[in-house]
Amino acid sequence: MKIPFFNYPKLYLESKNDYLQILDSVCQNGAFIMQRELDNFEKELSTYLNANFAMGVGNATDGLEIALMSLNLKPGDEVICSAHTMVATASAIKMAGATPKIVDIGFDNLIDPDAIAEAINTKTVGIMPTQLNGRTCDMDKIMDIAEKNKIFVVEDAAQSLGSKFKEKNAGTFGIASAISFYPAKVLGCFGDGGALITNSEDIFHIAYQLHDHGRDTDGEIKSWGRNSRLDNIQAAVLSYNLKKYQNVIEKRRNIAEIYNRELKEIEELKLPVPPSKGGFHFDVFQNYELEAKNRDELQKYLKEKGIGTLVQWSGKAVHQWEKLGFDIVLPKVEEFFKNCLMIPIAPYLVEEEIYYIINSIKEFYKVV
Ligand SMILES: Cc1ncc(COP(=O)(O)O)c(C=O)c1O
Repeated sequence: MKIPFFNYPKLYLESKNDYLQILDSVCQNGAFIMQRELDNFEKELSTYLNANFAMGVGNATDGLEIALMSLNLKPGDEVICSAHTMVATASAIKMAGATPKIVDIGFDNLIDPDAIAEAINTKTVGIMPTQLNGRTCDMDKIMDIAEKNKIFVVEDAAQSLGSKFKEKNAGTFGIASAISFYPAKVLGCFGDGGALITNSEDIFHIAYQLHDHGRDTDGEIKSWGRNSRLDNIQAAVLSYNLKKYQNVIEKRRNIAEIYNRELKEIEELKLPVPPSKGGFHFDVFQNYELEAKNRDELQKYLKEKGIGTLVQWSGKAVHQWEKLGFDIVLPKVEEFFKNCLMIPIAPYLVEEEIYYIINSIKEFYKVV
């Protein structure tokens, strides 16, 4: 059996006729940039998230950078972020003119609130937690630290649309956030795409100008800006996919439940933290990332069985990329990256495939 880690063609072919119609309609109207489909999607997304503003951008990295630029960072300012994230989180801080201060992870492999508290000093202006793998951080603790220290929170919610902590959506806790629609995301488009989310009218207007050549919503140039807009075709595709989103989330959650149930006896594995242990979490399982003894051998074995897996971000935490100039040791995340492995989780996986993956892992560890 062949189970690739991603199967983009399969997702496309499931709804091919609808996608072709969407493409045809946008092209026939010649409506490519800042048109009705984008307006509609932005409204649907803000309604879905219960947020005041959702603004399409070229990708989530731009969204994060624009959110930070809206906050007027100065050289020397420090923004705290996790070592367990895509480099994009840290690079957005750097590109916005501040310094990323990377900290270790906690029991749930997300940014550790205690490590955040320890890292705060007179230069700290903000915290940028990553809502990773479709799970929201303990936002009570993080918001509390931010309020006490009078610093901002900008969430990297690239991987977590629909994920919740205490019924509140990832991406709506801080002053702003960004979500990614990169094709592999739970809500994906046909290329790069992202959205900046905020409840603040001030941030929305500054960010709006930054993402469209300094123009305000009336088209008047009010400041310097750049071009980072979400294409109309992508917005139309995303609107369509958003309608099916709850169903997609439920399918992912069901697969995760089967993995949790079937793999929990294997002593050599550490599974993602279940919602009941962290408390109050609603996870969307952007990824199912486990920690495995003899990880590399397991990955090789699964490959031989036709199962695609992924060691995320080339197996390195952000601070472990030498050229980025960090000189720190973060033991928990470094240990995590020695063992972490993502196994396939996608709405199109059928029971036979899910059990083939489970049984192959059991075979490897000689668990009957
Ligand atoms: C945690 C995290 N942050 C940021 C990004 C950047 O998103 P984009 O590719 O849309 O710029 C990603 C994307 O893959 C991500 O996983």
